[in-house]
Amino acid sequence: MQNFSQYADWAYLVGAVLFILTLRGLSSPASAVRGNRYGMFGMALAVISTFFVAVNPNMAMIIAAMVLGAFVGILRARTVPMTQMPETVAMMHSLVGLAAVLIAVAAVFHPGVFHDTVHRFELFVGCFVGAITFTASVIAWGKLSAKLAARPLKGVWVKPVQTVLFLAMLGFGINYFVSQNIDSFLVMTAIALVFGYFWIAPIGGGDMPVVVSLLNSLSGWAAAGVGFTLNNSMLIIAGSLVGSSGAILSYIMCRAMNRSLLNVLFGGFGTATAAAGEATEAGERNYRSGSPDDAAFMMSHADHVVIVPGYGLAQARAQNAVKELAEALKEKGVTVRYAIHPVAGRMPGHMNVLLAEADVSYEDVFEMDAINSDFPSTDVVLVIGANDVVNPAAKDNPSSPIYGMPILEAHRARTVMVIKRSMATGYAGLDNDLFYLDKTMMIFGDAKKVVEDMVKAVSGKGH
Ligand code: TAP
Repeated sequence: MQNFSQYADWAYLVGAVLFILTLRGLSSPASAVRGNRYGMFGMALAVISTFFVAVNPNMAMIIAAMVLGAFVGILRARTVPMTQMPETVAMMHSLVGLAAVLIAVAAVFHPGVFHDTVHRFELFVGCFVGAITFTASVIAWGKLSAKLAARPLKGVWVKPVQTVLFLAMLGFGINYFVSQNIDSFLVMTAIALVFGYFWIAPIGGGDMPVVVSLLNSLSGWAAAGVGFTLNNSMLIIAGSLVGSSGAILSYIMCRAMNRSLLNVLFGGFGTATAAAGEATEAGERNYRSGSPDDAAFMMSHADHVVIVPGYGLAQARAQNAVKELAEALKEKGVTVRYAIHPVAGRMPGHMNVLLAEADVSYEDVFEMDAINSDFPSTDVVLVIGANDVVNPAAKDNPSSPIYGMPILEAHRARTVMVIKRSMATGYAGLDNDLFYLDKTMMIFGDAKKVVEDMVKAVSGKGH
């Protein structure tokens, strides 16, 4: 095996290029499958090459661990519904964090190995970042999968406890760094695990997607730290790519919500959401409602229809019905397009994934910036389970908490139809003026059922 180790660096280089091509491919739905394949090849190359750089590897143990991991991974990938993707990703990040902790602890206890200052720094930072990532990801998974209460942990004591834990963690870590005291290292690790909980527990369940993306970034940096510990350039490169792309994604999500990362992490409207839902004055305002048949009639006689999907479409799993509706309208000569807001739903690309699952052509799907100017010439906008991403308050009400957030300008279309179950608020807990416009018709019901009824009405099968 020794003879092959000199080739491993070359293999790692190829692997790194493949990972970069993966990110490039994932930047567009049309090339995402190809991007995924690059990632699979890159990862396979990296794993196989690592066998050749290891000194006296315990092959039986490594292969047993890989088989077990592959088994769990394949099973999960085959069974997880798209709507459970955010919590699945959170769970995977927790494993990366745990791996970083275990490797750092093993390195610290490795008999007869002296760790110089640079190495001790990598161990100390890699281990606490990994430990925080581990518990924080487990809590994020619990909140997203409703295994834990999504309600944020509240109290005046929360911030002081966070501060004390953070400083104590750093204190013990620095003591290990300076004195090589292994007990300090272990105490630091234990405090980092507890800190991970206190860091995430005060954040509302609705803000978890941003947190998951941030944890994605942290897990990448933890992996890069492990790469330094193991002197493995592939881990350093892959970890840094994950670290930076996660950080960029968190930034993009925050910008699309017009919030700062600090606002998300240390309590913004996401934490007030549960209560804010009750603050609506919906009962006192007038709105128009209609039936799926009314809506189908109007859309069948329109030239241009734009469909705006939101979180409710995902909840109702209405994507296939929506595709059917679009096809039925197209058969009647109507132009149908989809408008996607960058933070519609609860995870990045949520709507794109759902529409792709229903085999909607990418050519019909438009990002917000590409379609916003077309709304004034659109006959009918059909909003399906979306709320905040079409709330005009973001544009014209400076006192609104979402003021400044870019929105899909559905209110500028000639007619607006909104499918949702009630007048309840969306994620941000805000009333939506769009629902009360004279040109708006509310169609109440579960999105899937309503759209299926519309399909029947458009294709004339219901009567
Ligand atoms: P929301 O504002 O959350 O509104 C979704 C609407 O769907 C609700 O008002 C709800 O009304 C309706 N709904 C729920 N289940 C339904 C069903 N089965 N059938 C029909 N309607 C249903 O969604 P949005 O417009 O997609 O906005 C997303 C929000 O999430 C934004 O505020 C965004 O900032 C936030 N957020 C997004 C992300 C990412 S990355 N996407 C991350 C963090 C936060 P009813 O209860 O009346 O049915």
